[in-house]
Amino acid sequence: MNRILVTGSQGQLGSDLVTTLRQIYGVEQVVESGRSPPHSENNFYLYKTLDVTNHQQLQTIIEQEQIQTIYHLAGVLSAKGEQYPDRCWDVNVNGLRNILEAAKTYQLKVFFPSSIAVFGPHTPKLDTPQITVEDPATIYGITKVTGELLCHYYAHRFGVDVRSLRLPGIISYSTPPGGGTTDFAVAIFAAALQHGTYTCFVRPETRLPMMYVPDAIRAILDLMAADPNSIKIRSSYNITAVSFSAAELVTEIQKHLPHFNCHYAPDFRQAIADSWPAVIDDSRARADWGWKHQYDLSAIVVDMLEKLSQRIEVTSQKPAVRS
Ligand code: SER
Repeated sequence: MNRILVTGSQGQLGSDLVTTLRQIYGVEQVVESGRSPPHSENNFYLYKTLDVTNHQQLQTIIEQEQIQTIYHLAGVLSAKGEQYPDRCWDVNVNGLRNILEAAKTYQLKVFFPSSIAVFGPHTPKLDTPQITVEDPATIYGITKVTGELLCHYYAHRFGVDVRSLRLPGIISYSTPPGGGTTDFAVAIFAAALQHGTYTCFVRPETRLPMMYVPDAIRAILDLMAADPNSIKIRSSYNITAVSFSAAELVTEIQKHLPHFNCHYAPDFRQAIADSWPAVIDDSRARADWGWKHQYDLSAIVVDMLEKLSQRIEVTSQKPAVRS
């Protein structure tokens, strides 16, 4: 029996991760949690209201639910972090510290999502190595560097089995992201289908590492299932799938929606995107525990348009998706 707690379970990654974990381990084994009170659909599933900064609340859930593994996804993303830096620090650093302390006490296994945001203006932008300059330009990035150091410390000092990935921008269809800099690469799909037009908040040449959500879920599960001896890095692994610019994404979408057009109106998120790498070297993840992505840009676009078309009402007057 492996009792699992997912924090931030209603977020962009959490919702798909919970579905997959329930398929693998059984519905009863997965406890969802988030700051908001349960929705009506939560009546069918195990959901706990949890503020990860509340150590006592966390401990009570772990004990009551006999939790053995935590996927700690609760966090404040990069753009929102710049608006609410105190909250970003509290949730991302103090929340993680509570999780790691609990992991030490109850011998739990933990997944922690780090980010490409640990890198900064002086980090090599192409083939960013696993070990390199980390000088983040955002409070979010600073919290992720701190989080990685905490993970490394708790693993080596206390033997906590914590595993982590420096996730790139995640492209998803079931739950939209909230407050990130890479959100444009998700919002563009719904806008293309519904309105035939999108105003992008980064410049067309902005190139960032990205990953489709099924690849991200598989990466997390493969990392967590890997033999502990194969996990050589306890701070966080570089991981990626594809890198593309905003303009290349637009061109790929236009292959299916020829009348789609994109305008560019860069805002404060441009500076954040500019501080991040364009292409990441994830050879350590590939060598240590066999990471391999499946979705390239064209496969992501085909699947996103198909999945989103099923989910949203296509109100655009433009021609429907070309297969
Ligand atoms: N996708 C995240 C963000 O944009 C980066 O980890 O904030």
